[in-house]
Amino acid sequence: MSETPSVELTDDIRPNVDDRIAAEAETTLEDEETERDLVVVSNREPYQHEYDSDGSVVVEEPVGGLTAGLDPVVQKTQGDWVAWGDGDADAVVTDDDDCVAVPPDDERYTLRRVWLEDEEVEGYYYGYSNRVLWPLCHDLVDRVEMEPDYWDTYRSVNESFGEAAVERATENSTVWIQDYHFCLAPKTIRESLPDGASMVQFWHIPWPAWDTFRVVPHAEELVEGLLSNDVVGFHIDRYRDNFLECAAQLDDTRVDRDAGVVHVDGRTVEVGAFEMGVDADRIAETAETFDHHAWAHLAGKYDIDPNINVAVGVDRIDYTKGIPKRIDALEQFWEEHPEWRGELTFVQKSSHSRSQIPAYQRAANEVEEAIERVNDRFGTEDWQPIVHVDDHLSQRELFGLYRHADIALVSPLRDGLNLVAKEYVAAQVEDDGVLLLSEFAGAHQTLDEAVTINPYSPEGFAEAIHQSLSMTAVERGRRMRSLRSVVTEHDLDDWVAELLTATVPDGEEFTVEGTDV
Ligand code: G6P
Repeated sequence: MSETPSVELTDDIRPNVDDRIAAEAETTLEDEETERDLVVVSNREPYQHEYDSDGSVVVEEPVGGLTAGLDPVVQKTQGDWVAWGDGDADAVVTDDDDCVAVPPDDERYTLRRVWLEDEEVEGYYYGYSNRVLWPLCHDLVDRVEMEPDYWDTYRSVNESFGEAAVERATENSTVWIQDYHFCLAPKTIRESLPDGASMVQFWHIPWPAWDTFRVVPHAEELVEGLLSNDVVGFHIDRYRDNFLECAAQLDDTRVDRDAGVVHVDGRTVEVGAFEMGVDADRIAETAETFDHHAWAHLAGKYDIDPNINVAVGVDRIDYTKGIPKRIDALEQFWEEHPEWRGELTFVQKSSHSRSQIPAYQRAANEVEEAIERVNDRFGTEDWQPIVHVDDHLSQRELFGLYRHADIALVSPLRDGLNLVAKEYVAAQVEDDGVLLLSEFAGAHQTLDEAVTINPYSPEGFAEAIHQSLSMTAVERGRRMRSLRSVVTEHDLDDWVAELLTATVPDGEEFTVEGTDV
């Protein structure tokens, strides 16, 4: 998912919405017995206040599937969201409790910002989270860079987030922690969590085997921290099984693999696979509004010929996404199938994050160089083989691009799930696109009518591109209808309901008001 347009800040968005929420509806996440409220904790905030060039304050929605995916959920539930306030103007708009009501144009929930010093950002975010845990969990041990300071800072920042979460929690709260930035926060939260409240953590990236995870000296402490939750969720069975294997290495745990539970400290922690979904109906409705005229207009802006075939790739620039290998495969494809020169344009939509880390700067350079190489080699006066779009597209433009792209190349080297694959499918309102999907993406488990690719094999990948472009309309329709039913039947609301239902006793159910869940 990508950024949506900046929204002008209006004067009336300032203070938090607690009073309004209390008056409007006590809490809106409810099961039959108890009304629950939601406290989400994530590193990345869903709305960022920034100064514009003229000194006015604007609101941006940061890049990344996680925040964009969860924001509609928290809007529906009107809960609280605790996150790092890293926007230039974030502090200007928050109240004395570090809170601000969001979304700015339709206040639905309270964003509680946590402030970090530069050294904390360096050690916790750029350091332990993204130079240690990110590569480690993607099985890229050689890329792990360990500095002693990283760990200490990671620990203290986790405590700060934990304290902020506890501040917002009541006995009716479900505290919902996101991702690898917070292995230790659950421990802090557990110590002061009000009776009756529960805690669940969703791990959005892969979890590796114990032999990989144990490479970091604090492996056991990390696992122990996560076991302070009531529920720990992963996208797919393999990551869950790997985690259970890691939990079994700790002295004081008893793991029941069949039941998917860990007994520790007199508590039972449920460990499950809950594959995330996307808001399929909204994506389809938005894509539907982006007709051929709108597409021709957007294509024209980037010198794409809307009358030839289009392949699309949408990624945050990251070495795990395998973009240079994708470009190698395209090069091989045009080399072996010259009849497709001038007949296919590949559109690579990119966004940037973590750019202060040299490995990310190198990844960005590699992508640029590979695109230049292929364009120099095959490009003609009338045709540019690869178009790189790294400026902002609105969600409507993005979903429109998906809809009109004949094929999508989703080829990460390793990926927890990959929401782009599901978004592309959801946007195929004519059921005529073909999804090429890496066997190393978590989404591959359920999207079995995609054309499977191994990103490490340029020959096989090139051949899969050729087969996909040559597929009959009947076969494309059959595959895409099947994929669309998977993505629509297991959507974002289902994912939230399944995960949160795991936090309440058997037989009880969470319902999310205002949704079909
Ligand atoms: C992945 C992670 C998220 C993260 C996102 C963007 O999807 O699982 O936790 O927010 O990347 O990365 P960034 O470092 O910019 O937040």
